[in-house]
Amino acid sequence: MNITKVIIPVAGWGTRSLPATKNIPKEMLPIYNKPVVQYVVEEAIHSGLRDVIFITNRDKNVIEDHFDYNLQLEATLERNGKQDMLAKVRAVAEMARIISIRQKRALGLGHAVACARDVCSSDDAFAIMVGDDLMFGMTPGIQQLIDVARSERKPVIGVMEVPQDEVSRYGIISGKESSPGIYTVSSLVEKPKISEAPSRLAIVGRYILTPEIFDCLEKVQPGHGGEIQLTDGLQLLAEKRGMLAVKIRGTRFDAGNWAEYLTANIYFALQDEELRDDLVQRLKSLLP
Ligand code: G1P
Repeated sequence: MNITKVIIPVAGWGTRSLPATKNIPKEMLPIYNKPVVQYVVEEAIHSGLRDVIFITNRDKNVIEDHFDYNLQLEATLERNGKQDMLAKVRAVAEMARIISIRQKRALGLGHAVACARDVCSSDDAFAIMVGDDLMFGMTPGIQQLIDVARSERKPVIGVMEVPQDEVSRYGIISGKESSPGIYTVSSLVEKPKISEAPSRLAIVGRYILTPEIFDCLEKVQPGHGGEIQLTDGLQLLAEKRGMLAVKIRGTRFDAGNWAEYLTANIYFALQDEELRDDLVQRLKSLLP
């Protein structure tokens, strides 16, 4: 399987993060010293994906600008001898090839993915990574899915076990564990009621799909919340091609949840040796 493209939908409103996101895309909120979306793109790049397809809207241009050169800033850094910072800023521009597509109407995640049809090859599988779902572990989350998709030649989605009272926030799968941590998916339901969830295995914003998903999405009618749901398209794809779910090993932060967002900030700041001791002292002094 040749997998080089990743679709990153970033057209959502970010209402959970208001008022911070009134004029800043939620994907551009910083986690320590980088915007959320840069962590997602770095995960893609470290997993061998080269072409990043952002599904954006009219208020999100700053995301693609972040992954482009800023010549004025670079000239200033160069003049001031700030070589370290200059290298960091340039590296972001050189990290990935960017394709940007406008989702002109907010009709749902399934619709956002369908907007990428013309730039995806009709032969190759591709990745989807939700732009505010962060994952960290020994092996990048999307790489774990790519490995299984390559060996099993099937669409693969990432799942994690969530507490019972959180199932209605996610797409939930049911399936049979065919080998440790790998499930053969039989059905998927978007944001079920707690009493109706078939399991606690939640879809966590990482997918490797085959191009048949685009025909499936054309057949999908508005579902949960009146939107074209990717999960409903996945149900059709699972029936047509079969589908596996992989329990992703690692830590996940939902950047749209304030407690997780703030924890992610501390997690990354603590990895910086120069900051660590000072930060720990300051955090301790805040505790009663
Ligand atoms: C989307 C998907 C959902 C998935 C979730 C993961 O929901 O529709 O199936 O579980 O991402 O973050 P959203 O969070 O966009 O409402």
